[in-house]
Amino acid sequence: MHIRPRRNRKSPAIRALVAETSLSASDFIYPLFIHEGTEDQDIASMPGCKRWSLEGLLKEAGEAHALGVPAVVLFPAVSEKLKTPGAEEAWNPDGLVPTAVRALKEAHPALCVITDVALDPYNSAGHDGLVEEQEDGSLEILNDETVMALCQQALCHAEAGADVVSPSDMMDGRVAAIRGELDDSGYEKVSILSYSAKYASAFYGPFRGALDSAPKAGDKKTYQMDPANVGEALREVGLDEGEGADMVMVKPAGPYLDVIARVRESTVLPVAAYQVSGEYLMIESAAASGWIDGRAVALESLMGIKRAGANMILTYYAKRAAEWLRE
Ligand code: PBG
Repeated sequence: MHIRPRRNRKSPAIRALVAETSLSASDFIYPLFIHEGTEDQDIASMPGCKRWSLEGLLKEAGEAHALGVPAVVLFPAVSEKLKTPGAEEAWNPDGLVPTAVRALKEAHPALCVITDVALDPYNSAGHDGLVEEQEDGSLEILNDETVMALCQQALCHAEAGADVVSPSDMMDGRVAAIRGELDDSGYEKVSILSYSAKYASAFYGPFRGALDSAPKAGDKKTYQMDPANVGEALREVGLDEGEGADMVMVKPAGPYLDVIARVRESTVLPVAAYQVSGEYLMIESAAASGWIDGRAVALESLMGIKRAGANMILTYYAKRAAEWLRE
């Protein structure tokens, strides 16, 4: 036998030389939940994550940054009394997100601060867009009216100092509209990371618990994508690229590795993938039961997402994984 592939696996040194993919803290974007209170709160639906106070946010983001994590993305838990059908709180300059962005950029100027652009945390209906009830009682998620609202929200985040705005709403035409709004207002340096291929996924359940943002009625299937489709993801990515997106995203990540690989081949833009709340909790709960080695499985899952073609990964493990990779 002349050919023995095991020679390339015989020692840690050889394995390091032949490794085709690497994982490092600089690949991670850390999603952080924030709320009005002064206490850091545990999240019942997402053990291991917290709803951070402003002070807690600055500390947690600072620690992650010191470990080499380059970016955070903010998700606000907005109190019920601020939620309205028009979601106006989404562009309140003194709201939770703009306040947090200003504080983060002041405390950690080199940290990249990303904001989520969508109406679900602010909208009394719990949908990413504005909702209109039809005569037959069904709900229509209004596209063009929502896009106008998203532009105001993105502008508000840019004014607060966000480095990147990240539309996660899946309305048609929002990337071009937001790009235009930012450019017209002198924010041509603010980037757009578009959730281009965001699927209507059951893996988001725990996240909606964390923000108390589940739709009050109906589902998100008329705007988020059908898990059956991949051609449609390429179409969305192509459109977002044409509309001026700087980076595109596939979400969820683990069950959609084929989509990540196809998107990677279809664009030269940087590709992000979101390891969402349900993916995180499947690992956490199995590890808590003693059924798997949580740390090893988390790192292997992140490596798989990277190997599929993601340049960056949004993950609730960002800080912990950065620590593990140091050891
Ligand atoms: C809402 C939004 C969601 C997530 C990120 N932004 C939920 C949804 O679309 O219903 C999910 C993230 C996760 O599950 O970790 N715009």
